[in-house]
Amino acid sequence: MTEASGVKYTLEDLAKMSILDVDALQSMYAAEMMGQAFYMALANRFDDPQAAELLRRNGREEAGHARRIGRAIAIKQGAEFEPVDYSDQPDFPLPEVIGREMLESVLKGEIAGDVGYQKWASREPNPEVARLYRLNGREEGLHGQRVQQVLDILANA
Ligand SMILES: [Fe+2]
Ligand SMILES: [Fe+2]
Repeated sequence: MTEASGVKYTLEDLAKMSILDVDALQSMYAAEMMGQAFYMALANRFDDPQAAELLRRNGREEAGHARRIGRAIAIKQGAEFEPVDYSDQPDFPLPEVIGREMLESVLKGEIAGDVGYQKWASREPNPEVARLYRLNGREEGLHGQRVQQVLDILANA
């Protein structure tokens, strides 16, 4: 899943925004769903069962983030959000070798994700939407910790 339909903004674009409108949230929804596909594909590359499970847990929570973003969209547009089905997408493309560098950049991305969600929460006028952002942000921080655990497992292997 490299490109999802209806996606207007990249994560870089979103990071620069202070308030997310419905278009921005739709791009965020797609990014979270891609996050799920990414972690599931990544987990499949690890023989260590503990490392694979840590990555799968992150993947499952990314899907939960997408569901929360769907709720935020519904609140903002005042009408139900139709979940987008990405199940027909091919497996997330990964490089031949999964090295520490790649995991370190994933870790950075998770920390940036936490910072981004906390920023959007602090600027968001709707308290329920802000709460959903904070929940997602806190879990992105946790994802970073799990990726760090995977790095530790690799270092000790
Ligand atoms: Fe996420
Ligand atoms: Fe995450």
